[in-house]
Amino acid sequence: MAHAARLIREGKLVAFPTETVYGLGANAFDPFAVARIFEEKQRPTFDPLIVHISSVEQLDSLFTQPMHDDVMKLAEAFWPGPLTIVHPKQPCVPDLVSSGLPTVAVRMPSHPVALELIDQAGSPIAAPSANRFGCLSPTTAQHVAKQLTGVDYIFDGGSTTIGIESTVVAVRENGVAILRKGAVTKEALATVVNVVDGDDERSDLSMPAPGMLKSHYSPQKPLYVIDGQRPADLPPNSGVIVNHAGNAPAYEGRMVLPLSANGDLGEMAVNLFAVLHAMEDNPNVERIFIEPVPAKGIGLAIMDRIQKAAYNYRK
Ligand code: TXA
Ligand code: MG
Repeated sequence: MAHAARLIREGKLVAFPTETVYGLGANAFDPFAVARIFEEKQRPTFDPLIVHISSVEQLDSLFTQPMHDDVMKLAEAFWPGPLTIVHPKQPCVPDLVSSGLPTVAVRMPSHPVALELIDQAGSPIAAPSANRFGCLSPTTAQHVAKQLTGVDYIFDGGSTTIGIESTVVAVRENGVAILRKGAVTKEALATVVNVVDGDDERSDLSMPAPGMLKSHYSPQKPLYVIDGQRPADLPPNSGVIVNHAGNAPAYEGRMVLPLSANGDLGEMAVNLFAVLHAMEDNPNVERIFIEPVPAKGIGLAIMDRIQKAAYNYRK
């Protein structure tokens, strides 16, 4: 930990676990270090980063003051945890972090390694998911090492416990708009703030946020969402991802992996990217088929990831 924190202070890149996915971190106030994140991920600079904090006091140096009342309502209800808040930024936040936008995205993760790293580094840490741009998100240190070779240190904290990226919300005058679905659902947000429709009115962004791009999170093989195909119709050398272990026998003879043992949505989120990585890595699998998951609760966020991952192979 001391080594990782020193690397952050020296302007280096450290991949670290959060409860959602692994992040590729650098000192958020060091534009040169942040530039290396974009280089390493091959990420276009129009795609802004999330700044990670370990105490709400750090918001003073990130968000314009006074902050919108909704910020503290959201922070009290959901931090530390899988919620990212977008709010007008202080001028000291490098433009590279926010991609030139007047806003910055901030999250307080709940993973003890992430919190300790931010504390010991002594500054907020800018970190996107630790994958190459557009590719599968990492939920283990091994997933990070597979895609990124120029990271100065990868902190191995085992598998992440939520498995999909945080919910991203923008705090606006009239309420809170959801920019990316995640484990914090619309229903949960609505218990503390007014939730407004955000998907179509991207007036605060010159480009849609990549969380909103149609194609993202993709494996390096064709991926199809199962939609009426009968198991017998799937070609040999297909890998099949079922949402419930009980569905596996129908696909006998193919490489089958379940997202959950018994249909639990939280378990499906935890396993989604690990199972996609396993299919991507399996030399016997030429193409991947995945069952849709129930579109409720975190299932909506899972389907969002699945549809984007399969976008280039939709019917
Ligand atoms: O769970 C997570 O959020 C993980 C962990 C590492 O914290 N991070 C993550 O980062 O998923 P990334 O870069 O893969 O996704 C960040 C999303 C992108 O869709 C980005 O466009 C959006 O947040 N975002 C960042 N700053 C924004 C801003 N100022 N306005 C609107 N969207 C923003
Ligand atoms: Mg990402």
